[in-house]
Amino acid sequence: MRTTRIVEMLEVTESAALAAGRWMGKGDKHAADDAAVEGMRRAFNDVEIDGTIVIGEGERDEAPMLYIGEKVGKGGEGIDIAVDPLEGTNLTAYGQSNSLAVLAFGPKGTLLHAPDTYMNKIAVGPDAASAVHIDASPTENIRNVAKALKRDVEDLVVCILDRERHIELIKEVRAAGARIRLISDGDVFGAVATAIEGTGIHLYLGIGAAPEGVLACAAMKCIGGTFMGRFAWRNPEEKARAVEMGTCNIDGVLDMDCLVNTDEAAFIATGVTDGEMLRGVKYFGHGARTNSVAMDAKTKTVRFIDTIYRTGEEKFWVRMD
Ligand code: FBP
Repeated sequence: MRTTRIVEMLEVTESAALAAGRWMGKGDKHAADDAAVEGMRRAFNDVEIDGTIVIGEGERDEAPMLYIGEKVGKGGEGIDIAVDPLEGTNLTAYGQSNSLAVLAFGPKGTLLHAPDTYMNKIAVGPDAASAVHIDASPTENIRNVAKALKRDVEDLVVCILDRERHIELIKEVRAAGARIRLISDGDVFGAVATAIEGTGIHLYLGIGAAPEGVLACAAMKCIGGTFMGRFAWRNPEEKARAVEMGTCNIDGVLDMDCLVNTDEAAFIATGVTDGEMLRGVKYFGHGARTNSVAMDAKTKTVRFIDTIYRTGEEKFWVRMD
């Protein structure tokens, strides 16, 4: 049953990626995002769930599809779903690495209703899971992760979003002696990569979008890493909206149970463009191929899945013409 649900949901991110991948390098991030949203929304129609979107494309009046509160699925088990049909719209639009179609789900009421604001985040893989805290300084966290991973600080790579707000953080990480992987977008990848061997990323630090924090936390729940956050409000209105939404820990530490309050979460991502964690969508004369990761906290499994959609089975396989 559980595996069936994971595969059904896998088809949802595959559908979004197959649609968005057509827009790679075309310079139009909105078209890429619209395609992903439509692809994902369409695929949900085939899934036997009574799903509620708790993190989506925005509030009902600003998003026609996959808005917060929207019901998806054709009936069945009641679950909460967080989606980001295209995580890294610019990455896709400019053919850059690591854009993903992503979702996470869990039993009803278990995923934080994260408002559209920023979150200060820290993420690390299972081997250093108890070595970090959001309130510790970057230097302290880096030293503790190095110790836990039995490496020199110089051998650590910290992933950080390349933003002006991170100038001081970047200075401190450099002074501590660690190397840095600056990314232009896509911090779900940045956080999750810390738990995937071979990506070359050991720690994620910095401020990014709050909804993406819940998605990354769901992955870390599945894979045994650590994710912690703290909201970084941009204005009082955002905070007031969060109070209205019933968001927990408005000013406190957002630990993993606050963000994803279940041991039955699942996280699924399909690559849109090539990256260190997943390969992007490949289209060829007689079909298309996707590469995904499906993590399940309940069965404690992490699956990497290649799927080939053959011509004639074009359920999700869209052409632009
Ligand atoms: P998109 O919404 O364009 O896909 O961008 C995603 C993202 O890069 C996230 O990964 C990140 O958390 C956030 O945007 C950063 O926001 P900002 O660009 O405002 O710094």
